[in-house]
Amino acid sequence: MPRNKPGLSLSQLGFGLDAGRPLGNSPNAGTQAANEASSMRADDPGSGKPSQTLFSSFSDFVDPTGNLSFEGKAVISSTGVDFSNGKSYKISMAEMQVESVLGRGQFGTVHRVFHRPTRVTMALKEIRLELNQRALQQIIMELDVLHKARSPYIVDFYGAFFIESCVYYCMEYMDYESLDRLYPAGMPEGVLGKVALAVVRGLMFLKAELNIIHRDVKPTNILVNRRGEVKLCDFGVSGELNQSLAKTHVGCQSYMAPERIVGTNGPEGYTVQSDVWSLGLTLIEAATGRYPYGTQAFTNIFDQLNAIVNGEPPSLSSEQYSQGACDFVARCLAKNVGDRPAYTDMLRHPWMLEMDACAVDMEDWAARAHALYLARKQAAANK
Ligand SMILES: Nc1ncnc2c1ncn2[C@@H]1O[C@H](COP(=O)(O)OP(=O)(O)OP(=O)(O)O)[C@@H](O)[C@H]1O
Ligand SMILES: [Mg+2]
Repeated sequence: MPRNKPGLSLSQLGFGLDAGRPLGNSPNAGTQAANEASSMRADDPGSGKPSQTLFSSFSDFVDPTGNLSFEGKAVISSTGVDFSNGKSYKISMAEMQVESVLGRGQFGTVHRVFHRPTRVTMALKEIRLELNQRALQQIIMELDVLHKARSPYIVDFYGAFFIESCVYYCMEYMDYESLDRLYPAGMPEGVLGKVALAVVRGLMFLKAELNIIHRDVKPTNILVNRRGEVKLCDFGVSGELNQSLAKTHVGCQSYMAPERIVGTNGPEGYTVQSDVWSLGLTLIEAATGRYPYGTQAFTNIFDQLNAIVNGEPPSLSSEQYSQGACDFVARCLAKNVGDRPAYTDMLRHPWMLEMDACAVDMEDWAARAHALYLARKQAAANK
């Protein structure tokens, strides 16, 4: 299968923030993709997919005009995603005004963009992949499940499209951004409890309603807005996308559970219990303001992974947090995967019940934490 050239960046589409990438050469990539898709059949051996996959109902996705269409939802064409089937607007790059860079991850950049026709501010995540066109289409189709992911604890998904080898993913803009930017001063127990509740509810929704395991629970994937709402993003909805990312995934901060590092469960054996470990680690990081297996304690990544697999798990300080909070986190960080609680048990834990019942002004906390973040950012810029 031929490999694509590097994808177009926003600057090559006429947006100014991301200059300096090599220029792709196929402005009609989306149309090509749609046309290629329209010629495929469920039983097409070239698709390399067994007939019970999404391809088996391919006629639901391809309309006579050759556009790739998700029934009642989005239509992908060279200009972007058309929501006219299900919603009354259309997303295309040309209608987006790029406002700022929200952050850069391992696989691409997230921009804040303003969609002029709807006047909606969105987060646009660009994921650069070196993949063949068909794998990209598979990713887009798998991402379609995100339209069903509607929960107060999950970042809203607006649609995805691709240009050359980049997947562009439009989602709800969370104006106070990710948890890692808000916790450096630590977190009072009430706020920690509300964050834990939101994450557990989000993870439980994904599993119960969509049969999705998140696979990447960490502070940068937990977002907060000015209403003090806490929502999850970047869950592993697309197996194809996960696979293509996993090959190059070497993070310096691992939130992976011991059994994932050792690989005892195998790639198919990933269970929700591994996400529970990542949540435990995330809660300790949020409470203390730093990653628990930080580099100051370990000289290299192998020592760090060795500590996760063979060492005692970290714990919340019983001087600063209640016994209930410490117990909840300790259960999440059980070394043995079978000893970690299920989501329903977590929600019945006395600390979760207590946190659910107590009133916490999340809006006020979020505003203060965000103001501190902006002040730190300004100070760094002035240096
Ligand atoms: N919907 C959003 N609203 C506001 N900010 C966002 C949104 N999505 C992502 N961000 C910000 O953009 C940053 C980069 O996100 P991205 O998912 O690319 O990488 P990451 O999660 O930080 O790290 P990694 O690539 O290791 O997963 C995040 O850290 C977050 O602060
Ligand atoms: Mg992320």
